[in-house]
Amino acid sequence: MAFRAKADMRMAGPWLSLCRARALGARASLVPKAVLPFEAIPQSPGNKWVRVLQVWKEKGSENFHLDLHRTFQELGPIFRYDVGGPHTVFVMLPEDTEQLQRVESSEPWRTPLYPWLAYREHRGHRCGVFLLNGPQWRSDRLQLNPDVLSLQATHKFIPMVDRVARDFCKALKAKVLQNARGSLTLDIQPSIFHYSIEASHYVLYGERLGLLGQGPSAASMGFLHALQAILKSTVQLMFMPRSLSRWVSSPTWREHFEAWDYVFQYANGAIQRTYQELALSPSQHYSGLLGELLAHAEMSLEAIRANSVDLTAGSVDTTSYPLLMTLFELARNPTLQQSVRQESLVAEAKISENPQLVLTELPLLRAALKETLRLYPVGIFVERRVSSDLVLQNYHVPAGTLVKVCLYSLGRNPSVLARPESYHPQRWLNSRAAGSRLVHLAFGFGVRQCLGRRLAEVEMLLFLHHVLKGFLVDTLTQEDVRMIYRYVLMPSSLPLLTFRATS
Ligand code: HEM
Repeated sequence: MAFRAKADMRMAGPWLSLCRARALGARASLVPKAVLPFEAIPQSPGNKWVRVLQVWKEKGSENFHLDLHRTFQELGPIFRYDVGGPHTVFVMLPEDTEQLQRVESSEPWRTPLYPWLAYREHRGHRCGVFLLNGPQWRSDRLQLNPDVLSLQATHKFIPMVDRVARDFCKALKAKVLQNARGSLTLDIQPSIFHYSIEASHYVLYGERLGLLGQGPSAASMGFLHALQAILKSTVQLMFMPRSLSRWVSSPTWREHFEAWDYVFQYANGAIQRTYQELALSPSQHYSGLLGELLAHAEMSLEAIRANSVDLTAGSVDTTSYPLLMTLFELARNPTLQQSVRQESLVAEAKISENPQLVLTELPLLRAALKETLRLYPVGIFVERRVSSDLVLQNYHVPAGTLVKVCLYSLGRNPSVLARPESYHPQRWLNSRAAGSRLVHLAFGFGVRQCLGRRLAEVEMLLFLHHVLKGFLVDTLTQEDVRMIYRYVLMPSSLPLLTFRATS
């Protein structure tokens, strides 16, 4: 806590004076300020090759979010980072994000994640929305939105997630009751990881993996290991220049390719099974996203497979971290935990009758999730290659520039919100009030925002709703958890949590 508070105080200096300067500027607004050229944007120091060497030695860049945060403190709320390739600019103020959204095209462009793209190009597989850009992205995305992101689709898959969340609590309760002290103290991270994969997989493929029970099948474990291998190798390959990585990282490339092969074969098998069952009995009830995409027959099988794999990959290592960090924050804030539990208990009768009400009946829990994602965003930036010229912080930014909005720094800026270091979900309850600068951008923005957003939200809401109703969660640790960047932002390790059944 102490470190964070100090860092935020240091940040307050330059930004508060910037805000004051703006306020003064408002009085003198009749004199328009000349827009400064792109080259005048402060430049991040550092040498590309020194950085590559460091990343290679450390097998990643675990403090990337902190490095960026420090650079903002030193250079102000905008800086450029030129290491060859397209111009890159980093920003972290809400008004710059608004500006980006205002000029956003109908086909927003993001840099494809190179190791993932390389695998598909090498094997001749089609890409899904995560890696696509341009008209092909737009066409896929418009076909997927109704079955994945719409409210109607969300209502259909909520009961499936609800079942998995209840199963998780049942298994946890059995373990708690086995102990003579009536409590269970554990590193909950692996169980939550299993929960989120189980829930996402059930919704995507309509099949249970069995990860919450005693003996998951060899196929389920193989699938899980392949997903973990993809993430691990991605971190090692993503920072390395392509030309160099072929020479120095060939075992990692092999591991990366073999893991993707497994996941693609797995998706093929699921498509074949679902296709056959739908063909034999076409008027089946809702059985998940793959079933819907196949039944609608609007996308080619190749496109369905590519996007099923993207959704699978997107669901790994995403929802589990906000869940862990929310449990930890509630464990070290018992009064807040009690308020959130109370909200769940009051809403329980309605939600158990109609699980869809989880979306509307738990405002404090929703606020807690936003607060978690503010402090611990899973993706540390949202990126766009802008398609038209724009002005950010009074600098000209030409079309073609890559603009990265740093969510980590945005969420910890004392000129945007009071006491950014404290976990205070209530601040979100009136975030739409006039004058509030709070923005919830953890899922990105505009037409290219996270496709799995609704599924992620439902997984997190239902999990916490059931867990908090059923258990008191405690920790002995009050210190902040160290976060590390491994393509997603994650806790380096989590303190032990103790669960006691409420009844
Ligand atoms: C807390 C959980 C999650 C967070 C914070 C998150 C965040 C994000 C962000 C920031 C983006 C980029 C959006 C943009 O460029 O504006 C994104 C894209 C994406 N996410 Fe998520 N995500 C989460 C969970 C999921 C889940 C569970 C899935 C799959 C079921 C998923 C699938 C995707 C896909 C497919 C894209 C690419 C969309 C496109 O480019 O059209 N995400 N996500």
